[in-house]
Amino acid sequence: MHVAIIMDGNGRWAERRGLKRTLGHQAGARAVRRIVEAAARLPVDTLTLYAFSSDNWSRPADEVGALMRLFKRYLQSEVARCVENGVRFNVIGRRDRLNADLTRIIERAESVTAEGRRLTLRLAVDYSSRDAIVAAAAALQGAGPSSRAAFESCLAGVSHAATATAPVDLLIRTGGERRLSDFLLWESAYAELVFVDDYWPDFDEAGFAAALREFEARERRFGGVPAAPRRSAGDAV
Ligand code: FPP
Repeated sequence: MHVAIIMDGNGRWAERRGLKRTLGHQAGARAVRRIVEAAARLPVDTLTLYAFSSDNWSRPADEVGALMRLFKRYLQSEVARCVENGVRFNVIGRRDRLNADLTRIIERAESVTAEGRRLTLRLAVDYSSRDAIVAAAAALQGAGPSSRAAFESCLAGVSHAATATAPVDLLIRTGGERRLSDFLLWESAYAELVFVDDYWPDFDEAGFAAALREFEARERRFGGVPAAPRRSAGDAV
């Protein structure tokens, strides 16, 4: 099962406490560790976390710098644990605007964890779904007959996705807002959406499990009709 999460609310979490926004991101990084550990215990095989959108470059330079440092620190400190726990790591998004040091750390984390089979953990960094779709459409031109499969292979290629494009089953957004913010638009065509009011730093395993229960209770029809209701013993045939 593929779960994607828009980790929203770090800034508000910090502001509520009279703290700088960057401290909210640090608390957010601790929540990332908790939720990744929880995912390995839950029926999740792919987890995609929205860490930095291409539109986030417009934030103040000190906030952007603090986020980039957090990503580096996270990747460096978590790689050994990922290997131990069978977690395969992958960063999706553009790489050409990231600092060379961060790119090198990403590439190392991806190669060291490449054999992980228990959970694929994807971090979206400098990610824009619309930009990825435009780039994939350009790559598809002249690459033979168009098909969804061919397009998805281009989409995976332009996004640096290590595995084939996986449809999102459940998309969770924390922080109380209800929008997709240019995240996995193609992949979420039939995703179930769950919006959670908790700010991301407060999101925990119980909240994650509750979102999964909400998902399980939904009927996914993929454009079809509801499954036939079960007959009870007294029904006429
Ligand atoms: C959205 O909250 C969050 C982000 C733009 C950054 C996400 C980063 C983290 C969760 C921490 C670091 C991650 C890793 C992988 C180590 P916001 O700042 O927009 O919050 P607001 O809506 O309350 O202002």
